[in-house]
Amino acid sequence: MTESIRLINPAARESALKKAGYNLFAVRAEDVYIDLLTDSGTGAMSQEQWAAIMRGDESYAGARSYHRLRSVVEDIFGFKYFVPTHQGRAAENILAACLVKPGQYVPSNMHFDTTDANIRARGGRPVNLVIDEAYDPANTHPFKGNMDIAKLNSFIKETGAENIPFGMVTVTNNAGGGQPVSLENLKAVADVYHSFDLPFFIDAARYAENAFFIKLREPGYSSKSVKEIAREMFALADGMTMSAKKDAIVNIGGLLCMNDGILFENVKNELILREGFPTYGGLAGRDLDAMAVGLYEGLDEDYLTYRLGQTAYLVAIINEAGIATIQPAGGHAVYLDAASVLPHIPQSEFPGQALCVELYRQGAIRGVEIGSVMFAHSDPETGKIVYPKLELLRLAIPRRTYTQSHMDYVADTLKHIKNRASTIHGYKFTYAPELLRHFTAQFEPL
Ligand code: F0G
Repeated sequence: MTESIRLINPAARESALKKAGYNLFAVRAEDVYIDLLTDSGTGAMSQEQWAAIMRGDESYAGARSYHRLRSVVEDIFGFKYFVPTHQGRAAENILAACLVKPGQYVPSNMHFDTTDANIRARGGRPVNLVIDEAYDPANTHPFKGNMDIAKLNSFIKETGAENIPFGMVTVTNNAGGGQPVSLENLKAVADVYHSFDLPFFIDAARYAENAFFIKLREPGYSSKSVKEIAREMFALADGMTMSAKKDAIVNIGGLLCMNDGILFENVKNELILREGFPTYGGLAGRDLDAMAVGLYEGLDEDYLTYRLGQTAYLVAIINEAGIATIQPAGGHAVYLDAASVLPHIPQSEFPGQALCVELYRQGAIRGVEIGSVMFAHSDPETGKIVYPKLELLRLAIPRRTYTQSHMDYVADTLKHIKNRASTIHGYKFTYAPELLRHFTAQFEPL
């Protein structure tokens, strides 16, 4: 598929911003020139996927599409049971509904915002225990998504395993720069969870990119295939949630897998209530077929070389333009260190959001803030606002969509912004909902 894009003039961009309450989620997509809001569901599907869509079996129960997907899911992930869901957060919602009770804690390296919110929505408390290096943007640790094993151990001891329904790890770590988790670390995490009899779930949204980083960076894995590495990763876990909109390169879809038969029974009941019958889970048969094909395409090593290469290229040219990004390059996105680009804007005035608005104003490019708008919250005990450690602007790269010249345009635009950074101001909320506020919040310039 190809799609035309257009660049609207600066005055039209200014009025689009005002109309959107300075929240880029509220800008019309046709008013965006390069859309780096997300890599989720925005990739270009292949001819094989479109062909598979034509073969979709729309039977309500037991469709051929379901069985084709089932054999791929078994082949790659190896769990005993699975259900399709309409996207990742639906899998998280069902898992949290079945397992999380009010007051319980769910540790991870870093939860993504929907996972965080789904745990909180059940009265639970998400806990992030990633290694300290993850909070230092300049640190070039090859596996900055790793869990801090010592912190995890003492957290479980102090909290009591009975107050923890399950543990997680997100691969790659989206909230912390798209950084991978090593197999050595995954093994250690699995050992800790299992030593306390806690089930271990992987958030597998970008598992293929993570597996390819393991192949490239972890000693002993260079001659293994990405699929073999993936099998090794999932053999350590008791289940997984997955947004198929990432590494399965589909526009919609998700997966929830597990080995526990009793949990599976509960999951199916919850799924029927909220998503659909267990053999389609909120998707059309054709979506299941597109996912079945996309799961294998996402593991193709030529594709992954191009994919991670494009991200590394964008990081390199942005750094050349004098703008700091999280190092090293992650998998699916570039994370600009907004705090260092706009050091004069305090966290309470949202430097990440200010940079996000400026990128649209200057070049009609859309990114997303991953900082205080997304994560600052008031502490339930003290009532004080707790700010995140990083103020980032994420530029996520849709799969198989943009070319190198699009990336060059992004870096050029950032150069212009950098030159007038000291004139840029912060923002304040005019509206903010309690949960997942970055999607619908409204702002006013200060
Ligand atoms: N887990 C991770 C690590 C994610 O990045 C996402 C979505 C989800 C779960 C939820 O999946 O969107 O299919 O419901 N991330 C998107 C993003 C929205 O832009 O990073 P979903």
